[in-house]
Amino acid sequence: MSILVTGGAGYIGSHTVIELLNANEDVIIIDNFSNSKPQALEAIKNITGKDFKFYEIDYLDRIALEKVFEENPSIDSVLNFAGFKAVGESVKKPLEYYTNNISGALVLLETMRKYNVKKFVFSSSATVYGEPERIPLTEDCKIGGTTNPYGTTKLYIEQILKDLYQSDPTWDIAILRYFNPVGAHESGLIGEEPQGIPNNLMPYIVRVAAGILPELSVFGNDYPTPDGTGVRDYIHVVDLAKGHLKALEKLNKEKQGLFIYNLGTGTGYSVLDMVKAFEKATGKKVAYKIAPRREGDIATCYSNPEKAEKELGWKAEKTLEDMCKDSWNFIKNNK
Ligand code: UD1
Repeated sequence: MSILVTGGAGYIGSHTVIELLNANEDVIIIDNFSNSKPQALEAIKNITGKDFKFYEIDYLDRIALEKVFEENPSIDSVLNFAGFKAVGESVKKPLEYYTNNISGALVLLETMRKYNVKKFVFSSSATVYGEPERIPLTEDCKIGGTTNPYGTTKLYIEQILKDLYQSDPTWDIAILRYFNPVGAHESGLIGEEPQGIPNNLMPYIVRVAAGILPELSVFGNDYPTPDGTGVRDYIHVVDLAKGHLKALEKLNKEKQGLFIYNLGTGTGYSVLDMVKAFEKATGKKVAYKIAPRREGDIATCYSNPEKAEKELGWKAEKTLEDMCKDSWNFIKNNK
């Protein structure tokens, strides 16, 4: 049996492929390199010593996608990482985001249905909770009120998956709500490579430490948090990747269903906690200044990850120090 991974050359996709190959799974990757590079595929081979089939196609290309299923009747499950993910860009290019993320998911799901492949793991985000109903967030907290098209695509796709399951309960679907993925593979060979100036905190911190950017702007220090800066649930990307294997395991062995899990650590760290932890872990200074709040930001967001632990046997294991060291190791190697 094979697992089709869309967006397998990207940040979270590539780390998940490594864990799948390490677990001796048969993997088929599709990617159009819209936000990734072919080198990531070489790095996966070097790290694991294993091979996989690869198709350079866009998942919106129905004919090309059908050919992949046609040629690989062994595909029995799909992990979908092929989505645009930059919040700021999504505000400027909503149609591109809705087309790529939502139409892409629809073409993929229709193709899966055509070939009777009905196990699907979807990369969702804590962003679907909008302004959190309560902290820590449990999976039954209200969702909605997203503040940007990127977040809204995640919300809509979750709804599409719920409607699909309602119409045909022979599907097995896991919706994974990621908190804030950071870090990189310990080899330093793959990691996050945002194009241009990063929006997210950790990629910004590493670029300041590496001298690529002059200083970090801390967006607001007047939030109702212990030090006034925003608090988030940062999770190491390798822990996150392992969560996908556990979700697949569940879909493969248990009764059919649609399951939703938070993938986070359950611990919140502020922006200044992150700066201090990074400096301690790497010995590098991170120059920063306090700047106005960023529009659309919330004060505090962290998970209650107990459901995933209880039902999947999954728990984040890496420390904040690992997240900082591995993020730094990757940028050092790839400056
Ligand atoms: C954002 C998105 C989320 C997405 C996630 C990807 C929103 C509302 N959320 O989360 O949908 O899944 O990225 O990881 O847009 N910060 C600074 N200076 C910076 C950058 C960030 O102070 O230069 C602060 C932010 O204000 C926030 C924290 O760092 O308090 C984390 O920000 P970021 O890494 O962008 O993630 P989120 O906004 O939590």
